[in-house]
Amino acid sequence: ASLKKYQFDIQVKNVSRLCHAKPIVTVNGMFPGPTVYVREGDRVLINVTNYAQYNMSIHWHGLKQFRNGWADGPAYITQCPIKTGHSYTYDFKVTGQRGTLWWHAHIFWLRATVYGAIVIMPKQGTPFPFPQPHREFNIVLGEWWNTDVEKEVTKGNKLGLPPRASDAHTINGKPGPLFPCSEKHTYVVEVEQGKTYLLRIINAALNDELFFAIAGHNMTIVEIDAVYTKPFTTEALLIAPGQTTNVLVQTNQIPSRYFMASRPFMDVPLTIDNKTATAILQYKGIPNTVIPSLPHLPAPNDTTFGLNYTTKLKSLNSPQFPANVPLNVDRNLFYTIGLGMNQCPTCQNGTQLTASLNNITFVMPKIGLLQSHYFNINGVFRTDFPDRPATPFNYTGAPLTANLGTSLGTRLSKISYNSTVELVLQDTNLLTVESHPFHLHGYNFFVVGTGIGNFNPAKDPAKYNLVDPPERNTVGVPTGGWTAIRFRADNPGVWFMHCHLELHTSWGLKTAFLVEDGQGPDQSILPPPKDLPPC
Ligand code: C2O
Repeated sequence: ASLKKYQFDIQVKNVSRLCHAKPIVTVNGMFPGPTVYVREGDRVLINVTNYAQYNMSIHWHGLKQFRNGWADGPAYITQCPIKTGHSYTYDFKVTGQRGTLWWHAHIFWLRATVYGAIVIMPKQGTPFPFPQPHREFNIVLGEWWNTDVEKEVTKGNKLGLPPRASDAHTINGKPGPLFPCSEKHTYVVEVEQGKTYLLRIINAALNDELFFAIAGHNMTIVEIDAVYTKPFTTEALLIAPGQTTNVLVQTNQIPSRYFMASRPFMDVPLTIDNKTATAILQYKGIPNTVIPSLPHLPAPNDTTFGLNYTTKLKSLNSPQFPANVPLNVDRNLFYTIGLGMNQCPTCQNGTQLTASLNNITFVMPKIGLLQSHYFNINGVFRTDFPDRPATPFNYTGAPLTANLGTSLGTRLSKISYNSTVELVLQDTNLLTVESHPFHLHGYNFFVVGTGIGNFNPAKDPAKYNLVDPPERNTVGVPTGGWTAIRFRADNPGVWFMHCHLELHTSWGLKTAFLVEDGQGPDQSILPPPKDLPPC
């Protein structure tokens, strides 16, 4: 193990895409930002210095930050923002994880441009549990707005409506030649014939689940969210915001140029978004004049593809990498996900779109929750988040417009140290159904079951996979359906959980777990670093 140091300067830089130039917030002037390369077991110091006129905070998405929420990053949850002219060093150890994760701004909508990959190499001398690739490259999927995203959000908030959709999807910050003025903004990777390549795919988009495929080439899925999977081969994959997927690709086709493409999965098209981002897989020696062909992507509303694909995802569960699924449950939680309407005196129409868990819309505190907990500051949050809705109802029945109003609150669920938790996330049809990628900070969890319709506690648990379920940090709750996850609460701290669609997070589709300290010597939250940004 060694010490890896990075300097992240938050700077505003002019970037032009789609014939539009605009100032964007970046790390070190790069878009996307720099890749963080570490090895399992390393200690990492990342000094973030903020030169921009925005508050900043960076989250290392998927890193467990054992007992060390101080380095997790979500603003007002584990720290207050790094103000203009200030610095903070994220100091953490990478233990028991290897694979692809990513980092992003975790304040306002700034992750629209502030994001990058994290590559964790296995411990020295530990090979991958799959064929050693010849080379590897990162595919970071994102979105681009021609206008200032923060301003769009403010505009939308005044109306109580979503901001307008992005103008393009991007691959490594580039939309590709299907968009205007984008010929030179195309990501091209050069490959040799007859080799195996590892692609580290990250969905950094704000609001879209994405299909991804490569023309003429199959992909073998080997890892999701930095956990090895049972390998399987597929023509296309589905990836939700927050998720990562590693695939092996064999360059076994006629040397040519092939498009790699991503396009949104939209089973409930509230707004039609079928923008296709492209990049090019180019065999060595093939001239740039060869016109690539597009891959076959599933139709935008192909739910069947999504269901088939996700049921194929299974943990590797080998002797070296066992899946330690909790078989008994100490604490059963059932949270309903609702999109609805609320009163909004400051909005133009007096109402606003809102989102809730168990009918509670989360209100961001003014002081970091972790600090409030650690230093016993009263009045910042409550720990009475309900384990289940007060009255069960037909969650996925006809739109339940009578029940749209939600209550507001900064309410957390308190979890005993080392207890095993099962959480069923149930989509509801309060206003409309939609799929929601849920992300839990500080943990991986096992996705033990999923289904369409209302969760049935008498029947569905019998069908759980408790042997080799996928282990991840972000999971899609299907449209009009449910997902059951399990984890052992062995990481004390305050851990955010939210929908990773930025739109829904900003509407309040979030909560946090307060995992109590244990009694043992290594079972409590570490002391905060000296330079933790003050509130
Ligand atoms: Cu990648 Cu709280 O998020």
